[in-house]
Amino acid sequence: QLRGVVALDGPSGTGKSTVARQLAVGYTARYLDTGAMYRAATLAVLRAEAPLDDPAAVTEVVTAADLRVGTDPSHPTVALDGEDVSAEIRGPEVTGAVSAVSAVPTVRTRLVGHQRSLIREALSTVGGVVVEGRDIGTEVVPDAGLKVFLTASVEVRARRRSVQDSAAGRRATLTATQADVERRDTLDSTRAVAPLRAAPDAVEVDTSDLDVSGVLSRLRELVEQRE
Ligand code: C5P
Repeated sequence: QLRGVVALDGPSGTGKSTVARQLAVGYTARYLDTGAMYRAATLAVLRAEAPLDDPAAVTEVVTAADLRVGTDPSHPTVALDGEDVSAEIRGPEVTGAVSAVSAVPTVRTRLVGHQRSLIREALSTVGGVVVEGRDIGTEVVPDAGLKVFLTASVEVRARRRSVQDSAAGRRATLTATQADVERRDTLDSTRAVAPLRAAPDAVEVDTSDLDVSGVLSRLRELVEQRE
């Protein structure tokens, strides 16, 4: 049984989403993908053609958007204004713009409020939730029962992204994917508000040499140690 919040943070390509979902399924807990929320907010901004360098315009669009995020780990869904956008938010347009949108402090305040209410709801219904993102252990749930920070070398992360992209029918060269991973790492870890970093009490797990089941067994070990 998983009680309380597992905060799973780290840069992209560490396998966070896959292991977060499987961990939640295994413990019949809920699952919250906060990256999907920033991505859906970004899609709203792109659709409204709001200038990415205008925080007030970006905030206005995000505030007006109707974002709905499902927390069932076997069937995570993201809807924007009533439309399922789960596939579109993984595309290159959103990926290219999401770091700019997520750096706007008022956007973060809004989405963090939404995240906390989804987490409260999950805790009051099934009692446990795995939350993945960049700032879960540092900002969103600083008192999470277990905080894990996943890392992996940039080469490994770019290779994993490429495999995912090809599986989803998106084409990109490995060089371009690695450049994108590095660009987002820099933007996400240098922004003023809630930058990507490990909480002081997070357990770091380097996934470079581990496959999904290897990471999962390490996480289960950590969950069971906390019980
Ligand atoms: O995890 P994913 O790659 O889908 O996240 C997309 C982007 O959303 C990240 O690059 C980051 O800019 C932003 N993000 C964030 N805070 C979170 C989750 C994601 O700023 N908690």
